[in-house]
Amino acid sequence: MNVMAVGADSERRTDHPLIEFDHVGMIYQGARQSFVAVDDLAVAVPRGQFCCVVGPSGCGKSTLLNMVAGLLEPSRGTVRYDGAPVQGPNTRVGYVTQKDNLLPWRSVRRNVGLPLELRGVGKRERAERVDQMLDLVGLAGFGDAYPRELSGGMRKRVTLARTLVYEPEVILADEPFGALDSQLRTVLQDQLVRIWERTRATVVFITHDLGEAVALGDRVVVMSSRPSRVVLDRTIDIPRPRDVFSVRFDPRFAALHEELWAALSPEIEGRGRA
Ligand SMILES: Nc1ncnc2c1ncn2[C@@H]1O[C@H](COP(=O)(O)OP(=O)(O)OP(=O)(O)O)[C@@H](O)[C@H]1O
Ligand SMILES: [Mg+2]
Repeated sequence: MNVMAVGADSERRTDHPLIEFDHVGMIYQGARQSFVAVDDLAVAVPRGQFCCVVGPSGCGKSTLLNMVAGLLEPSRGTVRYDGAPVQGPNTRVGYVTQKDNLLPWRSVRRNVGLPLELRGVGKRERAERVDQMLDLVGLAGFGDAYPRELSGGMRKRVTLARTLVYEPEVILADEPFGALDSQLRTVLQDQLVRIWERTRATVVFITHDLGEAVALGDRVVVMSSRPSRVVLDRTIDIPRPRDVFSVRFDPRFAALHEELWAALSPEIEGRGRA
């Protein structure tokens, strides 16, 4: 497999979107039949944007992230990263996958430190950054625990810490806060927004929570049920810096939430489209 060049010395071009789905389709071949998961999707994410994606379960959201990460090839069309088609694992993106993939034989600290280890960051700096990150995701004191000793929500937070710790230029996050209670979720949303406002990474963030999408995103893309396409692409014009605790009281928040719900609700299974 080809591994894409790591960005450090590649020239930074800004005349194209950082991530581009150019008329992408995905057809999965089942045992007896094939079915179209994604149909002719055209979405471009500019550098530095916080782009949220919502859509009904099974519409192909994880499929799209897997394509950007280079783990899956589209059946039709092209996925471009920084102007070039994605071919093979894309080492420029940090990926918080839907299902955590922590290494069971490594402690929490050594899981989170792994990307720094791979990048040759020295032991002392590594320890400092890992501890800072564990603190930030509310897991200080769990550094020596093993993944099997953690709850689902804790494992998810370790996965998030492992991605944020090395500040990748792109963060792909697949429902990173899905398994958390609403208080912890708000705290982590706040941390993520602060990190993002400092680093201005490009983020593609999948969530089922419309409130979360409006609070965090510069933009929300609403996808239809399968075969999926974009039903609404909405700029979130709530100014930054944002405070995720109080943004919900902004009058624009309620209006945007309502508009997104109107687009999404007919797509949800059981609500039946006319
Ligand atoms: N490897 C695969 N082989 C066959 N079908 C697949 C495969 N991966 C996904 N699918 C199907 O493709 C569709 C899209 O899957 P995907 O995981 O991208 O959905 P999703 O939008 O992320 O859903 P959820 O919100 O539940 O996570 C689903 O109907 C799923 O059953
Ligand atoms: Mg998914």
